[in-house]
Amino acid sequence: MSSRAWSSQRALARIGTMVQKCRIERLIGMGGMAAVYAATRDDGERVAIKFLHERFQDDPDMVRLFSREANVANQVGHPGAVPVLDCNVDDEGCAFLVMPLLDGETVRARWERADLHLRLVEVAVLASDVLDVLASAHAHGIVHRDIKPENLFITAAGQVRVLDFGIARRTDRDGSVTVTGHMIGTPAFMPPEQAVGDRHAIGPASDIWSVGATMFSLLSGKLVHEADGGPAQLAAAATRNARSLGDVARNLPLSLVKFIDKALAFDPTGRWASASDMRESLHATFEGILGEPMAVVAERVRAQFATELVQETEATRVKRPAQGEMRSSRVRTVARPWMRFVHADIEVRAPLPKLFGPMTETASRILAEHDLGRYTDTDWFVPDTRLWWPMEQHVAAIHALIEAVGPIKGMDIGKRAEKFVDLPPDPMMHNIHATLGAIDVAYHLNHRRKGKPLFDVESGQMEEGIGHYHFRGPLDTEHSIVMVCENPYPCEMDHGIILGFARRFEPYAVVEHAPGGCRKDGAESCTYHVTWW
Ligand SMILES: Nc1ncnc2c1ncn2[C@@H]1O[C@H](COP(=O)(O)OP(=O)(O)O)[C@@H](O)[C@H]1O
Ligand SMILES: [Mg+2]
Repeated sequence: MSSRAWSSQRALARIGTMVQKCRIERLIGMGGMAAVYAATRDDGERVAIKFLHERFQDDPDMVRLFSREANVANQVGHPGAVPVLDCNVDDEGCAFLVMPLLDGETVRARWERADLHLRLVEVAVLASDVLDVLASAHAHGIVHRDIKPENLFITAAGQVRVLDFGIARRTDRDGSVTVTGHMIGTPAFMPPEQAVGDRHAIGPASDIWSVGATMFSLLSGKLVHEADGGPAQLAAAATRNARSLGDVARNLPLSLVKFIDKALAFDPTGRWASASDMRESLHATFEGILGEPMAVVAERVRAQFATELVQETEATRVKRPAQGEMRSSRVRTVARPWMRFVHADIEVRAPLPKLFGPMTETASRILAEHDLGRYTDTDWFVPDTRLWWPMEQHVAAIHALIEAVGPIKGMDIGKRAEKFVDLPPDPMMHNIHATLGAIDVAYHLNHRRKGKPLFDVESGQMEEGIGHYHFRGPLDTEHSIVMVCENPYPCEMDHGIILGFARRFEPYAVVEHAPGGCRKDGAESCTYHVTWW
């Protein structure tokens, strides 16, 4: 058994046991150095307990390094650094730390959930908060040395936390801290001076490189160096110049590309002089791109972080409908003027299975009925593996699905869509008005004719034929927008799509179907009022 599998087995064995005054409830995370559990103290307080991996418990250097985390984290002097409440050893001599339990998710988890592409505004707010914590750490003589998506956390209140001061180093005192035989840090996010092990060159600028590498990956879905496995990553980190963000992600503003390139300069003196300088430059860069003060953007993004986390937890709790609970399809004879927007030569980007969430079972059956997948001999459903599906089949299947699951769940599918479709470049979606206007662009980006999406990002050209999500602008007050859907997709799904996009910016937005005709009853289009406060 590999040492990793072995440590996770040992790690699981702790669940249900008591450690001093805490009952260990579940394993919430594992890093290179430790396993972290959720626990409840006898006074009812929820805490996180971090146990050094078994394989390091007999290594005095590692135990020493681990115990230092408590001191270091508590010296950062910033609420964005998680304090360590206690540092001790259990009855078997295993070292552990106690911290407040954070409710939320790591940036890595969020990044993966978003298919490895976080939005520009989210990355801006994250980086700004992390740099603020680092500025305080650096002012206290502490270098983190392991900034990466796994070590950053977004709380359910939308606040950013920097975790894991496990290998942080005091520049003033512990020049002598070395741990022989173990690699310290994570190659993919490690600056050259750290990868070659030049202890004297490691300083605040090393964290700056790692913030740049983290932003690079969150925006592009790629690592700075393309290399196969840890050792190759380490070699690349030590010897190669970082590639430019502009080479791996198209459609990003040039000022942003330049900003990240500077953070990733090979020579530490080519980067910013301090985390606060970098933060100032970050704000100037993003204010230039977004045309809004960072404080305003940050407030919106934080609210968004918070609501999404709540929605995600709720979504995983929904039970699958039992076969018998499904409604049988009703046969209705109404006019379907929107059929003129369905064409044999148009294809639509295949939805990812995750889009259907708790409706997966029903969706599978319906996709199979529409020849967009099949059941294997062992009754597993395999969706049609083509990346693009014929629009005719897709539209028919979506209507059948919404009929089967009912309007509420139909709206839910629509609400999830914004996470699963190809979106226009971020600068087109910097506030609720722009975002609702961009739904039509997203709609055309995800449909194509002869292999060409109906919206061309480079030229901004849109091809006609499939109808629209018309943006009718703010009418009476600033806090309302009218959308008119004149396209072949079901009313409830469009309702959800508009809600999903609106809530990217306005967590309290509501969408109401306006009176005066609905496509379900044969009207040409549906009108929706979006309001927020
Ligand atoms: N205080 C906390 N509350 C909730 N989750 C935590 C907390 N601290 C750590 N975690 C989770 O545990 C994981 C590992 O913790 P970390 O301190 O990074 O350990 P390592 O040094 O092994 O990388 C983190 O990525 C995170 O998912
Ligand atoms: Mg970690």
